[in-house]
Amino acid sequence: MTDQELIEVAKAYRERAYAAYSHFKVGAAVLTKDGKVFGGCNIENASFGPTICAERTAVAKAVSEGHRDFVRIVIAGRSRELCVPCGVCRQVLREFAPNIEIICLNGAGEERTFTLEELLPHSFGPEYLQ
Ligand code: THU
Repeated sequence: MTDQELIEVAKAYRERAYAAYSHFKVGAAVLTKDGKVFGGCNIENASFGPTICAERTAVAKAVSEGHRDFVRIVIAGRSRELCVPCGVCRQVLREFAPNIEIICLNGAGEERTFTLEELLPHSFGPEYLQ
């Protein structure tokens, strides 16, 4: 799976976003070490709090199918700025993949790759609880 293919998956999932309130559609695609891909979109809720981001939808799908070894994730938004993951999603990615690469896209299709360490330095993780 090339980066470009993973980007296309994230863009396709963006179309499935349920963004009834923000109208801010986001798609994500996470790649596992063994080459599996799980896509996700944001799913909003009238009660706002239960809203889930695209990244966490993709991660929840992967983990619930038995895959936790993530190497890369694409996040495709439509904003002018690159669609970077929110703080909650950064922490969720940290749980499973402290070395994950995060490819962020804006609406123009421009991209930038970050490491999780760049986006969430000095992070707290599972090893603290051992
Ligand atoms: N959102 C995501 O799905 N991922 C991000 O990286 C940023 C924010 C969603 C949550 C909400 O449905 C909408 O975008 C506006 O915040």
